[in-house]
Amino acid sequence: MKKLFDKTKINQMELKNRFVRSATWEGLANPDGSCSVELANLMLELAKGQIGLIITSHAYVNQTGQAGIRQLGIYRAQLISSYVEMVEKVHREGSKIIMQIAHAGCRSSINLTKKQSLGPSSIEIKDCGRCREMTKDEIFQTIEDFKKAAVRAKKAGFDGVQIHAAHGYLLSQFLSPFFNKRKDKYGGNIENRARLILEILQAVRTELGQQFAVLIKLNSEDFIEGGFTQGEMVQVSAMLESAGIDAVELSGGTSLSLSKFSSSRVGKIDSKEEEVYYRDAAKLFKEKITVPLILVGGIRSYEVALELVEKKLADYISLSRPLIREPDLIKRWQEGDIKKAACISCNKCFVPTRAGKGIYCVVEN
Ligand SMILES: Cc1cc2nc3c(=O)[nH]c(=O)nc-3n(C[C@H](O)[C@H](O)[C@H](O)COP(=O)(O)O)c2cc1C
Repeated sequence: MKKLFDKTKINQMELKNRFVRSATWEGLANPDGSCSVELANLMLELAKGQIGLIITSHAYVNQTGQAGIRQLGIYRAQLISSYVEMVEKVHREGSKIIMQIAHAGCRSSINLTKKQSLGPSSIEIKDCGRCREMTKDEIFQTIEDFKKAAVRAKKAGFDGVQIHAAHGYLLSQFLSPFFNKRKDKYGGNIENRARLILEILQAVRTELGQQFAVLIKLNSEDFIEGGFTQGEMVQVSAMLESAGIDAVELSGGTSLSLSKFSSSRVGKIDSKEEEVYYRDAAKLFKEKITVPLILVGGIRSYEVALELVEKKLADYISLSRPLIREPDLIKRWQEGDIKKAACISCNKCFVPTRAGKGIYCVVEN
């Protein structure tokens, strides 16, 4: 039977347990997107807390795709050296670390990029203005930028990359008929809407080979009318599986979804029944797809995490906010104190992050 502290492998990446720190924008990068000492030390703290796999916060692959203040960047070669120390610190503790590579699309911050944002189609988004439809050349350039970002991540020593295709950012916008109204081969049916992520995966594989871990974060659904559905998620996962993806992390929601369906839902989770936002989607995925499933969203207790793995509803348990409050949560559980995570899902951790002060749990302080 599968257990939480099993040793496993994703591609060549050996993991000491089934716990993943989901990508979490810490707002601790230097202004140019390079990794700061503060951020490297936060990753060290997480690794000391016994997380098997850390996924960095989203790192923009080109400067048009930046979403937030003090966000990580991986858009040019000069940034590579800033990551080396962070990766080494994590490796010394026996954990693995992969970089989440991203482009915010219509949700890029014009205040930071000083450029009109780009998306699959032109759409007005609150606080982001109206984005412009990408030309074919801009799409080809974006594929190139994701590929180069992955190459830089490998050079910095990361164990792999995760392509960010969730939460209504660029690649999730391409997947979603709500955002993507294109009439060319990148819009229309699901094969066309998935084309960009498949071309990015293929480009990364061609450049870095089969042995480098390439993961993806996908929405289980958008939770908006006319958006990406659970059925489409399964179809896209099957396409990714055939194309050689190593694991899929399932999340959900976009900035336009009702707040009760946002990717980081607000509200204290009082019972085990309220945990696991995407249980039904995980079930559907597991019926059809064989690549490992990393499940994120509202998982708070040891027993629920164990049940998900034992019942084969998930292969890996991914956590974001609980680890902001308790970076040593997994160590605590491993040592036998299996009290549920102290996080109350209030989302106040976004407040200092958005203010440029870097992430911390406001409740705890
Ligand atoms: C402060 C904060 C920053 C986040 N940044 C990212 C990010 O950079 N990339 C990403 O894919 N998800 C990001 N997320 C979403 C989380 O990875 C996760 O999907 C979501 O919070 C649900 O998991 P949880 O209930 O364990 O917090 C962020 C969440 C929070 C709270």
